Formats: sequence, C-alpha cells, structure tokens
Amino acid sequence: MTKALREAPLRPASSETLDPDNWDDMRAQGHRMLDDMIDYIANIRDRPVWSPIPDAVRARLRAGLPRQPCDLGEVYREFADFVVPYATGNVHPGFMGWVHGGGTAVGMLAEMLAAGLNANLGGRDHVPIEVERQIVEWTRQMFGFPSEASGIFVTGTSMANLMAVLVARTDALGRSVRQRGIGDDGARLTAYTSTAAHGCITSAMDIAGFGSDALRCIGVDRSHRIDVAALREQIAQDRSAGLNPFLVVGSAGTVDIGAIDDLQALSALCREQDIWFHVDGAFGALGILSPALAPRLAGLENADSIALDFHKWGQVPYDAGFLLVRDGDRHRDAFAAPAAYLRRESRGLAAGSPWPCDLGPDLSRGFKALKTWFTLKTYGTEKLGAVITRTCALAGYLEARILAEPRLELMAPVQLNIVCFRYRADNANKVNGDIVIDIQESGIAAPSTTLLGGEFAIRAAIVNHRTDTCDIDALISAVMEFGAQRSRPDAGLVLQVEPSPPLAM
Ligand SMILES: Cc1ncc(COP(=O)(O)O)c(C=O)c1O
Repeated sequence: MTKALREAPLRPASSETLDPDNWDDMRAQGHRMLDDMIDYIANIRDRPVWSPIPDAVRARLRAGLPRQPCDLGEVYREFADFVVPYATGNVHPGFMGWVHGGGTAVGMLAEMLAAGLNANLGGRDHVPIEVERQIVEWTRQMFGFPSEASGIFVTGTSMANLMAVLVARTDALGRSVRQRGIGDDGARLTAYTSTAAHGCITSAMDIAGFGSDALRCIGVDRSHRIDVAALREQIAQDRSAGLNPFLVVGSAGTVDIGAIDDLQALSALCREQDIWFHVDGAFGALGILSPALAPRLAGLENADSIALDFHKWGQVPYDAGFLLVRDGDRHRDAFAAPAAYLRRESRGLAAGSPWPCDLGPDLSRGFKALKTWFTLKTYGTEKLGAVITRTCALAGYLEARILAEPRLELMAPVQLNIVCFRYRADNANKVNGDIVIDIQESGIAAPSTTLLGGEFAIRAAIVNHRTDTCDIDALISAVMEFGAQRSRPDAGLVLQVEPSPPLAM
C-alpha cells in the first residue's frame, strides 16, 4: 500500500460515503423525478417526436470532467432541460424509424427497482438470478423448446447472434477450438443466410474469426424469403469443394420488410444436413405471442437457437436482448471457463452453479430480467400478443392509405409491421431522402429509410404500442406535404419547418 493511502485520514463514514446527508431531501427529489417521468410518458403526444440538438446543447454536454460535487436538483434540472427534449423519440407513438420498441411506465419503474437492488447477475446464489431463470423458462415455453434448453439476457440481437455463431462453432469443432482457435478445420466452415438478413450476421462471422467471406448470402424471393432450393444447392456445392457447412441463420422478420423465412423447410434441411439452425428473431420471434402470426413462425420450435429482443415488440425498455439455446450443455460448452476466484460451492453465496457467466462473455451483468419479468407479469402474454397483432393491423392501414393515394407507391409487400413506400417524383431517391429528414425535423413523425433493389424507400416500422391510426394519418399527410414541396421545380434546399420548442418538465 502506498504511503498516501496508508495515511489518508479516517473521517467519520457519514462524511465520506455517497449517501445523502438528508434522506428526506433525497426522497422528495426522487418523487419529483418519478412524477416528471410518469408525466413525460403520459403526455408524450404533446411533444415533438424528435428535435434536432441545438449546438448550445451539444456544447453543454461536452463540458470538462466534474471534479467538485453539484446539488442533485441542479443535475436533474440539466437532465430535464437538455437531455429529455432531445432523446431518440421512440417513446412517442409517431416514432416509426428502424425497429424501436416504445417501452412502458411499468418497465421504467422496474428499472428503478433493479438499480436500487444493484444486483450483479454474473453469478452467485440470489433471487435476481432466479428471476432471470424464470424468464428463460417462460421463453422456453413460448417457443416449445425442451427442458434442457438454456437462455441468457444480452444487450441485443446483434450480441445474441454473435453468441449463437460461437455456440455453433464450438459444436462443430469441439471444445478444443477454445484453446487452439479455429485452425485449418475452422477455415473450412461455411455459414448461410439470406441476402435480406441483418448485417449483424455478417459482423458475427467476422468477429468470430471466420471472416465474412465464409458466410454465403443466398438469394430471396419477391417477398424477401430465402430461396431454400438455392441454399440446398450452395450447401452441396460447398461440400463437394471440401468445405464444411456448419450453420444456417434463418430470419423471423427481416429488418427491411419483415419477411419470415420458411422456417419449417430450413429446419428440415438443417436436420437432414446436420447443420446448426439458428433463427434471428430480433423482433419477429415474439410474433409467437400473436395468435394471428404464430402459424407463420412454424418451424421456429425446431431451431437450435433463437436470438430475440424483448425491447422491440416486447415493449421492455432498452436493452433486453436474449439468446435461447435448445441444448444447454452445448451453450455452456461455448462459454464456461473455470477460475479460482469464481469457485462454486454447494451452499453459501457461491452456490447455484451453473451461473449466467457460464453462458456468455459477460461476468458483470445487470438485472435486465426484472423489467422483462414485470412486463410479462403485469400485461400477460395475451395482451402483449394483441399489441403485436395491432401493430400489424396498423401496417395494413398504412398500406391501404398508400394504395389509395396515386402520388404514393408501395415498395414491398407488407408482411408484418413494416411498410416501405415512396413519394412518386422525378429524382425519387433524392426527394424521398429529403422528405424523411424533413419529417423527422418537423417533429411530426420519425420514419427511417432503406434501399430496396437500389431504390430508396421510406420505411415505417410500427412497433410502439401507443401508435394509432391518427399517427399513420399524420405520417401520410406529412409525406404528401413535404413531397409536394420537395418535388416542386423551385424546391430550395432548405424548407421552413417550425422548430418545436422544448417543453418544460
Ligand atoms: C432482423 C434483425 N436482426 C438483428 C437486429 C439487431 O438487433 P439489436 O439492435 O438489438 O442488436 C435487428 C435490429 O433491428 C433486426 O431487425
């Protein structure tokens, strides 16, 4: 120990801990924050969906390291004035960009409780881990997986897909791959997905050390479902070239248009070929809770592993990604690593093995399970399923509005909750790109964009349980209005959009 540490004065604990001097003040401040955030969610429609960040606000958030204490109330004021008005906007029913869930007040309260407990779910024997195990069990039941299945919360589906690649790798090459690396045998492994799959599958192959060239991206049909015959053909070709197909990744809800691969055909092919069958079900897998959608996910129950996000269609606040693996032993084989300082016991706090840290790369892990537990228990899966069904019905409503409007063009079949369309115009790619930014900056709605066959599309992913027909109508009106302005021959580069004033909390 250094002299400075040895000689540091031992002041009374009350002046050195981080607890407040006055708990009543803390309680009053906490109640204010809670009231404000409940008001924020309850009155979210009164706010713009999103507001561009003023330069002064950005500059404020680049201040130097705070070395001296500051009153909590003042810090909170800064949050209320400069953070809240410029958040992503996905709590708002007009948010339809990317595939973002809306969250709930229940999930927010559960987050607060989880932070209060400050539990570390990497391991040891405590009930927060039992709560996570409860979700694993419920998820196993949802997807009809066997009792030996295992599961774990992760940040999101990108991480869950990467972990699934690692589990499939260890299954294909044996546990020794973890000491020796993938070597020559690993260099012959090939994986398969569709051209419509999310880019994180390619990244997973890259990060796992196979390189993205070892991923074969198979073509899709008009509805963006993988061409299973072409997949079979590619697997045969690769085998005859001396390669070793080890993994097929199907999509249950593609990111661009929400296509669901023929999961039954893929699972049968994988079983026949002895290939690991993983499903990227980032948002679509939870469609299993909707009686209207569940039949379209047939085959999912046969997957070796499923990646999904409770923070998308499950409406759990960010982040709550999840990996479910059919065979828990294979899952542990890919990650469990003994260490003296993590020794397991049959009783005491170090009991309860296996621990979640045996199922993934994280040792320190927060209590993501609690907000999911509260969400599932408070609403029940039937209500959550009804929300999912409704977002698809709203996508159908948007589709109908587009088809009824000659200036709009539907760009892809609507299969789930995602609608891709554009405003008809000369120079359509540029005009539609501008329309989307104009709408975002107006605060009316927040669609995003994608490219379909090289053509620019406005993409509305309806995920938020608060979204209603009036939000769809507002999106259509905004597209029509900005589209008319943007496609006028004299359209300037800058449109006059009334900036929305930040609202006081
Ligand atoms: C089909 C699909 N896969 C993977 C991802 C990545 O998920 P996450 O953002 O939770 O990492 C997404 C995100 O929208 C997705 O739609």
